[in-house]
Amino acid sequence: MSLAELFAAAKAAQAHAYAPYSKFPVGAALRDEQGRIHAAANVENAAYPAGTCAEAGAIAAMASAGGRRIVELVVIGNGAGLCTPCGACRQRIREFAAPATPVHVAGPEGVRRSFTLDQLLPHSFGPENLA
Ligand code: THU
Repeated sequence: MSLAELFAAAKAAQAHAYAPYSKFPVGAALRDEQGRIHAAANVENAAYPAGTCAEAGAIAAMASAGGRRIVELVVIGNGAGLCTPCGACRQRIREFAAPATPVHVAGPEGVRRSFTLDQLLPHSFGPENLA
């Protein structure tokens, strides 16, 4: 399963974003430990804080389908800047990913930059800390 496939899934989800307030559609797609792709878009709300990020939706879809590990993730947003996951989503990814898990940040034209989760969220707190 290729990165191109993951990018295409993120882009397809982005097309369904519900972002009437920010007008900033985002898509996220991840591959789980069973090789399945789960994708979602951001879903905003008139009560702004109730809106959800694309990454949160994709992770919820994965967990709800029984997936427990993120192997690779793509997030796509428009604009000149990098659409890196927000702080809360970095922590959400952390729950199901390893320090070396790739997080690819894309624009409409393709992947712009790739990070490891550990680069985005160093010295993180995770499930092992509770053991
Ligand atoms: N957003 C995401 O869905 N993922 C990101 O990585 C960055 C931001 C959404 C939240 C909100 O709906 C809109 O983009 C503007 O912040």
